[in-house]
Amino acid sequence: MSAMSGLVEDVLLGSHTNYAADGYRLIEVEPLSGALGAEISGVDLSEDLSDDQFEEVHRAFLDHCVIFFRDQNLTPEQHKAFARRFGELHVNPFIPGIEGHPEIIPIAKEPEDRYSVGHGWHSDVTFTEKPSLGSVLYARELPPHGGDTLFANMYMAYETLSEGMKDLLDGVYAVHRAGAAFGPDKLTSEEAVDGIKAVKFQYSPETEQSAEHPVIRTHPETGRKALYVNSTFTVGLRNMRQVESDTLLSFLYQHATNPEFTCRFRWTDGAMAMWDNRCTQHYPINDYHGQRRILHRVTILGDKPF
Ligand code: SIN
Repeated sequence: MSAMSGLVEDVLLGSHTNYAADGYRLIEVEPLSGALGAEISGVDLSEDLSDDQFEEVHRAFLDHCVIFFRDQNLTPEQHKAFARRFGELHVNPFIPGIEGHPEIIPIAKEPEDRYSVGHGWHSDVTFTEKPSLGSVLYARELPPHGGDTLFANMYMAYETLSEGMKDLLDGVYAVHRAGAAFGPDKLTSEEAVDGIKAVKFQYSPETEQSAEHPVIRTHPETGRKALYVNSTFTVGLRNMRQVESDTLLSFLYQHATNPEFTCRFRWTDGAMAMWDNRCTQHYPINDYHGQRRILHRVTILGDKPF
């Protein structure tokens, strides 16, 4: 490979993903794109999964980074019970939960709203010391079309960097700040107040919260390396001038969302998506103006990135 080579395609050619699709006995797993994502069938999430079923769902989650289920009929308790099989639940300080369930936040947009919650590429709550392991999003009310969600694979984003860029980023930490998305200026902005009336954001002193995480993190369960910066919460790179970190980050954000690293999920009534925040980013497509879209999200706590 010449110094100028090392193109994304060169790396992708040498790394065919060979999913262990036949290793499942209790569930069916259908990959959604060449990069990530799989639809799981043969599971009713309103029931307590047996340990064997859970082991297969968990394996599919690790193999495919985001998994999807269709036609589920879940109460908020059942939604939380499924997520709790993976870990403790997060209570979002800025987005009040639905009534009686502080751990379930509404991802809502009303017909008159301009924006949806979480617009822009991101991984969830990366501003905390121990950011999220994963999130479980369940469709309650959908527009007739539009409102799909994109996901991008951050293992691929890392693996397709040149060796020079990998060396440069080795040992570099990024600063992630809650205030970048939930600061007082953001919460009182036209966008939050008038733009998303469906969700009542609230001020929390946790807006001051920030955390430093390695730009390249190692997934604690798979051992694989993944790019771990996002344009919603990452505000800079430690020990670098702002211009240096802005330049590097803007390249990394663009690289991370290369279409070849993505999949696109079309929601249907009763669908559920569960993504791994340690190795993916997601982007809700805001293309259903004048329509209502209501989903409920539970966010699972994770470990300190290393
Ligand atoms: C989110 O959880 O960030 C929103 C995802 C979506 O609305 O599809």
